[in-house]
Amino acid sequence: MLLQSQFILIPIEILIETIINQYLSKSYCVTVISEEPFNFNVSTCFTYIIPYATGNLTKQILDVSEMGCSDYIVRMREPRDFMISFDEVNHLGNTRRSDRKIVFLPTDNRETDIPNLLNILTLKETGFLANLLLIIPTFKNSSDCISYELVSHKFVGPDDESHQPLYIDRWNSCTRQFEYNSNLFPHDISNLYGKTLKVACFTYKPYVLLDLDPAVEPLGRDGTETRIMDEFCRWLNCTIQIVRDDVHQWGEIYENRTGVGVLGNVVEDRADVGITALYSWYEVYIASDFSTPCIRTSVTCVAPSPRILASWEMPLLPFTLYMWLAILFTFIYASIALTIAQKCSTDRVLLTTFGMMVTQTQYSAGTTWRIRSVTGWLLISGLVLDNAYGGGLASVFTVPKYEPSVDTVRDLVDRNLEWGATHDAWIFSIARSQDPLVKQLINLFRVKPADELKKKSLTRTIALSIERLPAGYFAVGDYITKEAMLDLTLMQEDFYYEQCVAMLRKSSPYTEKLSQLVGRLHQSGLMIAWENQVSLKYLNFEVQLEVRLSRSKKDIETVEPLALRQVVGVFIIYVTGASLSILTFIVEILINRKHTIVV
Ligand SMILES: *[C@@H]1O[C@H](CO)[C@@H](O)[C@H](O)[C@H]1NC(C)=O
Ligand SMILES: *[C@@H]1O[C@H](CO)[C@@H](O)[C@H](O)[C@H]1NC(C)=O
Ligand SMILES: *[C@@H]1O[C@H](CO)[C@@H](O)[C@H](O)[C@H]1NC(C)=O
Repeated sequence: MLLQSQFILIPIEILIETIINQYLSKSYCVTVISEEPFNFNVSTCFTYIIPYATGNLTKQILDVSEMGCSDYIVRMREPRDFMISFDEVNHLGNTRRSDRKIVFLPTDNRETDIPNLLNILTLKETGFLANLLLIIPTFKNSSDCISYELVSHKFVGPDDESHQPLYIDRWNSCTRQFEYNSNLFPHDISNLYGKTLKVACFTYKPYVLLDLDPAVEPLGRDGTETRIMDEFCRWLNCTIQIVRDDVHQWGEIYENRTGVGVLGNVVEDRADVGITALYSWYEVYIASDFSTPCIRTSVTCVAPSPRILASWEMPLLPFTLYMWLAILFTFIYASIALTIAQKCSTDRVLLTTFGMMVTQTQYSAGTTWRIRSVTGWLLISGLVLDNAYGGGLASVFTVPKYEPSVDTVRDLVDRNLEWGATHDAWIFSIARSQDPLVKQLINLFRVKPADELKKKSLTRTIALSIERLPAGYFAVGDYITKEAMLDLTLMQEDFYYEQCVAMLRKSSPYTEKLSQLVGRLHQSGLMIAWENQVSLKYLNFEVQLEVRLSRSKKDIETVEPLALRQVVGVFIIYVTGASLSILTFIVEILINRKHTIVV
């Protein structure tokens, strides 16, 4: 509410009217924060805040900021308080804008305003804001004319100068004209003049590779996402400085707005941009800005390959368990029937029945039709069963049989097979899922150091997570070796897919430009081309091939000549039978001999 109802505007009011009309007319809504009433006449939508009128300034700014009024005109005795609350709101709120504008006005032309206003430029919070404008009165004129200096900060260029004031223009209240007519909000992030851009990352192929041989790669770094940042700085004329926290990799953000790893470096403003396969995690979005997604990736595992079934099982394979039971009962019933038919004589009953079931000729055709009608039908079913078994056995021998493979999440959970990686960032994306299957999957996830994973990968007790990248390559940890891959198979089903983004400070001035660049990179197909180039240059090609072909390599050995391995099972049965009969034979001889002696 404007308390002053003068018709004639004082000079500062005319100036602010001009600035709003020229520079803020496209703003969705402007917030005016003033301790003293002042008056202007503009058509832009605006809200008005009297600082501390309704309590906490942070709360007041937060409320209007969330409504979209995130350009400010500030007229306070302690403008520093505003900057601090403004930065707090940036952390608390959910509104993000790269191009917010703030105009600071002097209060009532007192000399003390000038150092107060200029002090703002030295604040840490100001460094994250591209466009702010200080209006500073000067008093050298005689007469009634007041002239105002329009000052911003250098922002671009060498870092030690970026806090220094940049005198943009001067405005005189008598002529009501700007002296140079220059752009009052010059920082449109199109040329940073060598400003340092701090990028947090760590080596994770093929996204980021650091510490490369400078003879091969002059900057000592490469990678699909590193190239995005290098391209960004080539476009905006900035200098990249790498910020590393290799131990914590992706890291995490704590409740108290601190953190470690890439995420911590971004949240604590040690870095301007964080990269390295950062997925669009909700928890992190609350605390930072995301660029447009740059790489679509999906997470899956390489799981222990199914093994060829043990060969002693092979003779049993042609029939299922129920079929074997049916045969057993046929044998029992047939024996009983034959016993009855022979007038309750068990003479040779079991041997005859067994013989007929394996299509053997009979000792005698039977003396009566009663016996023949039992044996006849049994011979026919024996013939059918025998042929069925023979057919099944042939297919079992020619096509190798494997134990069930781990293809889907369901398979992994059913087997209770652990899956692991070096950091729990792999499950951030699914951690909040309510799906019982996904919850079980999360319970099976283990974080282990790389060398332990390397050891375990050879023991068939763990599945290892990898990423399937858009151009057909895989992001495979170094702990997955060529030797381990021989016994691992890529799972068919993806656990989930994700969009990789670059993370920045909330409302960072760079977000919009970076998103714009990523859009162009997608348009031109460069992201796919870079993935190909980086993968061919730096990834272990043998491992890549092994992963890619791990599912098809089994097809090659589909049909093979019979080997001893396949008939071992039959020999086992024979040897067992033969040993048993020899044993029986010996026992019989011993008993008979005793008999003879006794007799
Ligand atoms: C001001 O309000 C904000 C948001 O409600 C709150 O987080 C903060 O603690 C308050 N500050 C003070 C000094 O009361
Ligand atoms: C890029 O920045 C440097 C200062 O680091 C400056 O000398 C150069 O002119 C700038 N390049 C362009 C194209 O503006
Ligand atoms: C923030 O929280 C983490 C873990 O909860 C703790 O280790 C760290 O010391 C805290 N930092 C500050 C500045 O309180």
